[in-house]
Parts: sequence; structure tokens; C-alpha cells
Amino acid sequence: MVKWSRFLYTPSLPLYGKERITACDRHIEVARLAAEEGLVLLKNDGNILPLDPAKPLALFGKASVEYVKGGGGSGDVFCPYIHSLADGLQLNNVKVFEPLLDYYNKETKAQHDKDVKPGLTTEPELPDDLLKEARGFADTAVIVINRFSGEGWDRSDYAITDAENKLMDKVTNAFDRVIAVINSGGVIDLSRFKEDNKINACLHMWQGGMEGGLAAARALIGLVNPSGKLSDTHARSIDSYPTTKGFHESEEYVEYNEGIYVGYRHFETVPGAREQVVYPFGYGMSYTTFKRECTDSFEDEKLVAFTVKVTNTGKVPGKEVVGLYVKAPAGKIDKPARVLADFAKTPELAPGASCVLNLYSDKYLISSYDEAGAVADACYVLEAGTYEFYLGSNVETAELLSYRMELKDALITSKLTHKGGPKPGVNKDDCAFDKLSNDEMDGFSPIVREVPRKLCWAEKKVKTLSDVAEGKCTMDEFVAQLSDDDLISLTGGQPITGVSNVWGFGNLPDYGIPNVQCADGPAGIRIRPETGVTTTAFPCSTMLCCTWNRDIARAVGFAAGEELKENNLGVWLAPAVNIHRNPLCGRNFEYYSEDPYLAGKMAAALVEGVQNNHVGTSVKHFCCNNKETNRKNSDSRVSERALREVYLKAFEIVVKEAKPYTIMSSYNVVNGHRASENKDTLTGILRDEWGFEGFVMSDWWNFAEQYKEILAGNDLKMPCGFPERVKEALEMGVITRADIERSVKRILGIILKLD
Ligand code: BGC
Repeated sequence: MVKWSRFLYTPSLPLYGKERITACDRHIEVARLAAEEGLVLLKNDGNILPLDPAKPLALFGKASVEYVKGGGGSGDVFCPYIHSLADGLQLNNVKVFEPLLDYYNKETKAQHDKDVKPGLTTEPELPDDLLKEARGFADTAVIVINRFSGEGWDRSDYAITDAENKLMDKVTNAFDRVIAVINSGGVIDLSRFKEDNKINACLHMWQGGMEGGLAAARALIGLVNPSGKLSDTHARSIDSYPTTKGFHESEEYVEYNEGIYVGYRHFETVPGAREQVVYPFGYGMSYTTFKRECTDSFEDEKLVAFTVKVTNTGKVPGKEVVGLYVKAPAGKIDKPARVLADFAKTPELAPGASCVLNLYSDKYLISSYDEAGAVADACYVLEAGTYEFYLGSNVETAELLSYRMELKDALITSKLTHKGGPKPGVNKDDCAFDKLSNDEMDGFSPIVREVPRKLCWAEKKVKTLSDVAEGKCTMDEFVAQLSDDDLISLTGGQPITGVSNVWGFGNLPDYGIPNVQCADGPAGIRIRPETGVTTTAFPCSTMLCCTWNRDIARAVGFAAGEELKENNLGVWLAPAVNIHRNPLCGRNFEYYSEDPYLAGKMAAALVEGVQNNHVGTSVKHFCCNNKETNRKNSDSRVSERALREVYLKAFEIVVKEAKPYTIMSSYNVVNGHRASENKDTLTGILRDEWGFEGFVMSDWWNFAEQYKEILAGNDLKMPCGFPERVKEALEMGVITRADIERSVKRILGIILKLD
């Protein structure tokens, strides 16, 4: 029996023989631990936190009961329950003022009944009598603010609303002890929380999955010591980001005018920009204190390494993140003032305890791409001069180390050729898909292939995929026997079976090719709710990233991989590593960071975790899908340097480190070429430069022409192909059978890896 035979029968049996582990206690604990580690403590005046659990609390704000566990769209997960902050506190026997909970439950229910989603509701006016009674009940107030966003639309909720400000005015006037908690998957204006002296503490709980409220409650009462750090710069206003100005300039395109100066690369470099920062990249407090000492350093051809001793100098156990930042010398190529070169997190250290961390700055990863040929055309280059290194968790306060890297001459770390950048004269219309209109797409129903009752290959005299698996024939021989129609069908998505809700691939029963189903992510395995199967809802990716802990990401990945496997699914459509170019992007909660190194390393760990189960990931959305409005048609106009150093870098790290089975191309257009028809990026960079060996699938129902996708290196069209059109293209001679075979072999090669 071949390894992947389970896909032929769709059994969905318990993975390890007895009880099912989907959404089991162990997985839910992983979700809680990840949420606990991603919490970011932003402020703690007078060490008001942690709170005494024996003292009562008054919770204000609809978000105290209306907890948003994650964002909307394909990233939403159907889980068995969710814990709000109020639940979390009550589960820990903290007394909370119940009439307020009743009030907010009633007010939010009225809005939900009118189809307003949690997080999109308006903040109800706080009645004065309730406030008064609450003050009589407790001397400490907790105000919770939430946000919701989702796939297909962009945010417009960065600022604190008038109703939220009014709530904070009322509560801070009545209480001397006020704690704010933020339940949002993305960046919002935190300036009031930082600057208002009447708000004593602030905890960012993000959208923490099913256990998010419990995790935050445990941190408020000191069962958990927050150790998360921001994966994005939080600035004063949405207009503080250089990327805001052109964000909505047109629905047709976005000019990436800021080049590589995204996030802290902008705020640290551009004069005056730092003043706009409320909380910098890498910021996050703890209930304890730490000392860092660099005890050793060395350099070789490929890297500069630092050994760092971290000691817990406070009174309670805690974990600390250490970031290594580099400042490259000024030269012919302009450079950001700081770039994250590496990071590491300590295990939990008891008071007085120390540990040693090793941080490595990879010379290739800190070099600049020379797009204009200032030093060496189309090369990654380290210019001559002195490279300074800084140590610390946040980019603003990281301290200069004594070790410097001195380069007498420029060092070329990689010689390439120009790919993917803007080409004069190319615009979207030149390369639009041929004649398929949007309407045709919407009305298109996938070709449904009957799932055989009896496994018919046994009766046929054909070579089967098992024969390839068992070495009885080669992949070339196997593919050679398939008709053109069968080959073409394998390049298109296949109907849903079992509990899946996003289609599959493969599905040629006569030749023993199973229909391997996919599942959405990235906050959990998304299974059709009507099947009655609920899965673990992990924290949103931004929160997972704020843990800065690769082991946690690996553990989440491993648990998700087990759930994928137990439910007879083969590929998880996760992780999503698009860069947080601007806070307005509606899907930022699914993405990791404004920094590609951090995003890439965290996502690589997640992929390793998933694929240790011999099931696959699909790293998405490749690439420059940084805005949701008109996402299927918007042209991301970006320099080759920014593409390589910022937008492709996280994918590059994941591909090289974790070898994901698949990549998902994005809907949008990049410099005039649809992402899924772009040979430069899909073949030139992804395969030829980085050595990617899996297959590329399109995003669902995109606007691209399938034969052009196959030629570019996008092997599978999801959720279904357009076989008649590929056949026509074959007959016209614009695509060859060999081109189609190439894609099919990549898809089948991945099926053979599944277990
Ligand atoms: C999303 C993808 C998702 C796919 C399948 C698309 O709309 O952009 O991220 O994986 O749908 O649900």
C-alpha cells in the first residue's frame, strides 16, 4: 500500500488510532500558549499590572464580551468555542461587575441581530448609573477596544472613534486605576493609550484565536508574564505611514513609491519620521527586567555571529527577545538606517537565571540589491565601509555593539540578472487575459469527475501512480501514457470531497491518482461547518509573529498539520507572508510583519511544523498582494529592489529554509504582469534562483489565462482549470504537451511526498 493511499478512500479516521485529536485539549493548549506568548504589554505605569485576582474588576467596552478571535473570509476558522476576556477572567475566579456584562451582551446582540459582525459594531453609550454602580463594586477598570477586518476589503478604522474616546473619558474620570486592552488583528492608533496618564496600563491581546481571552486574562492577573514584541511600527496616525498617500489613489494600481522604506525602514531613516512613532517595531514590556551582554563575536565568509548572555534581573520568571540590527555604511546605494539581521528568544528564565543566545547576521541577507548598477548591476552587494550592529528588542533603543564588520572593498554576495521589475511600456492591458470575462468566470461550474465506487485501475492495463511510488516505472513513463485531456485536467483544481471546503487536485482515478483536498488557513484548519467538525482556532498570524518564538510557530504548525491529516486533507493554504506595507490592508491579520526577515523566519518554522506530518503548505500570496480593494486586478508597481529586498524576501527565506510543498500565486498584477502569469517571478526567481521544487497553484477564481500560467510556471489553476481553453492553446501551438507535462510532474511529485 502506498503512503498516500488514505487520499483514495477519504476515511478521516483518528490519526493515532483512538480518539480524534482535531481540536483536542493538547492542540487547544498550543493555541493558548501561542496566544500567551504573543501578548504585548505596551504600558505599565507604577507596575499596576499584574492585578490581584482576589480584587473585583469592572469591565468596560463592548469588546469585553464581544471578543474578535480572528479576521474574516477564508482565514476564519470554525472552532468549538471562543473565550472572551470576560470569560477568561471569570474562569480564573476573578469577580467582575456582571450588570455591565449584561448590558454589553444585550447591546451587541441587538447589533449582531441586524447582521453587524462582532468588531464592526458601534460602541454603545455607557449609562451613567451603571458606571456609578461599577465604581462602587470595583476600584479597577478594564477598558477593551476591538477591531475586525477581513478578506476582500480594506480597513478604515485606524483612528479611535469618538464613541471610544467618550467611553475612555467617562471611565478615566470615574476610576483611578484603568487598564486598556486592545483586541485587534492590525495596527491602530495607540497614542491616547500611551499618552493619557489616566490610563495606567495597556495590553495588546490581538486576535488571539479561541483561547485569546483566557490568555489575556491570565496575563492581567500575573499567571503569564507577557513576552511578545510588536512586529510592526505603531505610528500616531494613518497618515504617518508613507504608504497611505497612494493607497487609495486608484483602484487600478498602487505605486510603491516608498521603495524599500516600509515600516521601521522608513521611520528609522527619514529625518523627522521617528517623531511619528508611538510604539516602535520590536517594542514590548515585561513584568520583570533583563540584562543583555554580548560575550563573544566572530565573523566568517558568510556571517557575523554574536553570543549574548541574557539574565533575568527582576523578581518574576519571564522570557526575553533579543533583536540584532545592522546599520550599513552610506555608499552609492541608499540604505535604511537599521535592518533586522536576526533575533532569538530566551526560554523562561527564573529570577537571577541566565541563558546564552546565538545570533547570526547572514551577509547575503543584509546586502542591498543593486538595481541601478551603482556598484555591480543586478547583484546583491555589501558596499565597502563599516557595518555597525545593535542589540535590543526594539529597533529604536537597540544598543551599539563594539564589534564592527569592516569591508575594504564591496562584496558581491549574489550575482543575478534583472527580473520582475518594471519594464518601460508594459502595462496591464498589454498582458490581460485573452477574452474570458469576469461574468464567464462567475457562472463557471467546475467539471465534476465521478469518484469511483470501485477502484478501477486494478482492472486496467495502465501504469498507476503507485507504480511510480514503488519504482516500477518512472514519472516520465507514467505521464507519457496520459492523454492530452487527462494531462490538462490534472492542471486544474478538482471537486470538493469529504470535509474540505476549498477543492482539491489530482483526481484521475483510472490511473490511481487521488483527489487531494486542501484546507484554508492560516489561523487553523478551515473545515466546512456543516460537517460538524470543528478545529482549533490559533492566534492570527500577526500575533503568532509577535511571539518572536520559532518554536511556538513550529508547534502551531505541527498541531495544524495533524488536524489536516486527521481530516484527510493534503495541503494547508497557509502561511500567508505578504508584508504589512500599510495598516489599511484588510488581510494584515493573516500576515506576519512589516519586516521580511521576521516574517520569513517565523513562517519557515510554521511550515516545518506542518510538513513534519508529511502534509503540505501553500505559502501565499506570491506576491505584492498588499491591498484588498480590486485585488484581482490592481497593479502593484514596485521597483525590482523593493520586490527582492522586501516583498519576495520572506518567501525566499521560507522556500530556502523549509521547502514548502506548494506556493500560491496572488491575484494581483505586478508591474503589468498578472502574478500567476509572471515567468520572471514564478520560474526565474522562485525556481531558478531559489531552487523551489514543489508546485505553484493560483489563487481562487483569478482573472488569468491558464495556458499563460502554465508557461510562466503556475502549475495548477484553482479551484478548477479551463480545460477547453488550454486544449485550444495546445491545438494552436502556443503551448506544447511538454509544457503541460512539466506542470503535471510537479503536481504528482508533491502527491508522492504526502503520507
Ligand atoms: C484567498 C486565498 C484562499 C482561497 C481559498 C482566496 O479568496 O485569497 O487566500 O486560500 O480563496 O479559499
